[in-house]
Parts: sequence; C-alpha cells; structure tokens
Amino acid sequence: MADKQAKLTVAGSEHELPVLQGSCGPDVVDIRKLYGKTGMFTYDPGYKATASCESALTYIDGEEGVLLHRGYPIGQLAENSSFMEVAYLLLNGELPKSDELDTFTHTITRHTMLHEQLIQFYRGFRRDAHPMAIMCGVVGALSAFYHDSTDISDPEHRKISSHRLIAKMPTIAAMAFKYSVGQPFLYPDNSLSYTANFLRMTFGVPAESYEVHPAVERALDRIFILHADHEQNASTSTVRLAGSSGANPFACIAAGIACLWGPAHGGANEAALNMLREIGTPDRIPHYIERAKDKNDPFRLMGFGHRVYKNYDPRAAVMQKTVREVFDALNVTDPVFEVALQLEEMALQDDYFAEKKLFPNVDFYSGVILSAIGFPTTMFTALFALARTVGWVAQWNEMISDPGQVIGRPRQLYVGPTERDYLPLDKR
Ligand code: CMC
Repeated sequence: MADKQAKLTVAGSEHELPVLQGSCGPDVVDIRKLYGKTGMFTYDPGYKATASCESALTYIDGEEGVLLHRGYPIGQLAENSSFMEVAYLLLNGELPKSDELDTFTHTITRHTMLHEQLIQFYRGFRRDAHPMAIMCGVVGALSAFYHDSTDISDPEHRKISSHRLIAKMPTIAAMAFKYSVGQPFLYPDNSLSYTANFLRMTFGVPAESYEVHPAVERALDRIFILHADHEQNASTSTVRLAGSSGANPFACIAAGIACLWGPAHGGANEAALNMLREIGTPDRIPHYIERAKDKNDPFRLMGFGHRVYKNYDPRAAVMQKTVREVFDALNVTDPVFEVALQLEEMALQDDYFAEKKLFPNVDFYSGVILSAIGFPTTMFTALFALARTVGWVAQWNEMISDPGQVIGRPRQLYVGPTERDYLPLDKR
C-alpha cells in the first residue's frame, strides 16, 4: 500500500490511485489499475508526464541541470573516472575496486574481435553508406553469430552478450569508417585501452604504427562517459520496448541504434556541426536566430533545447571545456568554435530561448571536438551509439532482471472510422 493516494473523479465517481515515491524526483501516480476501475486510458503521446519504468541507473533533474549515474554527478565522473569505470558502475551499481576494474577491462578487451564472417557484411554495403546504416545492420546481425549468449533468461548469457556488445561496438564503428574511406580494416590491439584501441582502429593503417595522442584519448574517453546513459530517452526506451518482448539483446541494441539515428536525438551532433559550418561567421548568427524563432520556418537551432533539461545541460558544460583542451593539445583551432560560443551567448540573451528554457545540449559542442580529432560528421552519431551501448545494455539487463517485467504494450485513442460494412468494388 503506497503512503500517498491520488483521487480521480470520473463522471461523479471518485477513484483512489496509489502514489509511488522514488529516492529523488517527482512522485508518480500508479495508473496500472485505472482501466480496470474506470474503463479509461491516459493520453500522453510523447511521454511528457509518463514514467515508463522503475530504474536505479540514472537520475536527471532537468530544472536544476543535474545528471547522476548511480548517484554520482556526471561532472565528477567526467573529471575523475574512465569510460570503463562508468560502464562497470552502470552495469553493476557500484564503482569498481581496482581489481574489479582490471578484471572487467580485461574481459571487455578479450571480446573486441568480430567473427571473421561478419566482415563479409561490410562488402555488401555501398561505399557511401552512412555508418549508422552499417551499424544497424551489423549489430542486428550479431545475433546470428553469438547463439551461445542469447538465452535472455540466463543471467550469465545476459552478462556475456552485454560484454560482447560493449567490446565490439568500437570495432564495428571503426570498420564502418574504414569501409567508407576504402582503407583496410584493422584488428583490435588488446594492449591498448578501450578508447585508444578505437582511435587506432579508426585512424591507423597497417603500413605504419599509430601513436595515440594521450590528450585525444582522454577527451574521447570523456565524450564516451558523457554519452554513456541518459535515463529513459527515445533510444533507451526503444531498447526496453524491443527487449520487453523477449527479443535477443543484439536485435534490441540494433533497434536502439535505429532510433538514435534521428536528428531530434543522436543525429543532432552531426546536424549541429553542419549548422555551425553553414552559419560560417559570427555576423550571420542573427539571421539564423531569427529563422529558429520563425514559426513558419522548420529550422531549429540544432544542439539546443531538450525534453528534460530546462537549464544548462551539465554535459554541454564539460564538452565546452573539452573543446579548449583538445585545441590546445593538438595546437589547432576551428572558426566554428567561435561561431558556437557566440551563437550560445546570443541565443541565451534572446527572450525566445529564455522563455522556452532552451539551452545548449550535449550535442552542441561535441561535433567541434570530434571534428578536431579527425572524425567526419557522418561518424558522430556512430560514436554516440558506441558509448550509449553501455546504457542500453545496463537498462536492458535491469528490465529483464525484474521479476515483474511484462511486455510493453501501449494503448491508443482511436479516431478512425467506426465499424462499417465492406462494399464490393462496383459499389464504391
Ligand atoms: N530551436 C528553436 N526552437 C526550439 C528548439 C530549437 N532547437 N527546441 C525547441 N524549440 C521550441 C519549439 O518550437 C517549441 O516552441 P512552441 O512551444 O512555441 O511550439 C518549444 O521550444 C518546445 O519544443 P518541443 O519541440 O515541443 O520540445 P520537445 O521537448 O518535444 O523537443 C527537442 C526537444 C530536443 C527534440 C528539441 O528541443 C529540438 O528539436 N532540439 C534540436 C535537436 C537537438 O538538439 N536534439 C538533441 C537533444 S539532446 C541529445 C539527445 O537526446 O540525443
């Protein structure tokens, strides 16, 4: 019995609904019995006020701009930890001790290779295929190669497939890039860290040794941390919904990748850098701000606004700082960074953005860094998918481990024709 109850009055009858309390964040009205009691559904198409599940992984306070993973603030994790540590934390609930981290890292490292036959898949794609198209296909195809870890009722299988997915994503993403530029695939090098290995597989060539720049490795590792998980966002909810039917984890993560691809979600980092390049110089910013405010113009400031954050996205703050670090380390600069800084400043002073509480999100600055490192824009969302795989598998595991888990099956408000009789062709 919940401590609090909500009362709903429908056609003069009063119904009590339990109110559930989390460890932080808003209480939720438990409407599971609403249909049985009242014959009515609730209506919330974009899930703007709907908690779709119970989760102990990530907490966001959008009004305050707070993001916690298992209680730890994202700023502290980005500053002090590594992506492998955050992956362990999200999967297991606690930060690893030194030996636990070593074992986990060793395990992930030993799963980085792809089944050799999977390499044939790449050759079936056009050279100009978007890396996300390749990722959707190849990750989904993993289920055909790793039958020994697809019994989702077995916790050990779930663990192995989670490790495989986390370990193989850098190899899959790097090979998508290599294929697009016509260079040979590089096998993983297990002597390198997770992130350094990915950099080498992406930018190295078999003809010479590749030196990983420590500042670039650190910056990319931090970008992975910033993207590791983000509560019940669209792609994570997609993974959960796909997984709720009992589908295997490789198929579920492929579904997540498909959802992430869209420009309103993971595709925004690619769109944001394209937008900054199109703006080109600070004097053109006011024109684009006016366009973003114009209701008759579909243009939006990409990398701006968020469904949950009504304050500065804490990840954007770390990203902005990381841009400077990468520029200093590589001794480069990019005029789009100045455009981004001035665009942010002008937008934040504008009443339209202030009233609607639109702030830079994680994607606003990430493209500037990734571009400085050498990634083409088409790879940006693939990098997001690589990092978010940790969150996806952690959320999927959390869902499957819940003894009360049921298939996700929303209802609808039907507005189509009511029942009518079939008319033969000559009578229509
Ligand atoms: N530029 C201009 N106006 C905007 C923007 C923007 N980027 N974002 C929202 N608005 C306006 C929107 O027109 C609407 O105005 P009105 O109330 O007058 O109709 C109001 O703000 C609320 O917008 P919404 O679309 O109803 O809000 P939402 O919560 O459904 O959308 C969003 C959130 C992220 C899809 C949206 O802000 C957006 O399209 N941003 C640009 C794309 C982007 O950067 N996406 C990355 C999100 S963070 C990373 C991730 O999740 O993957």
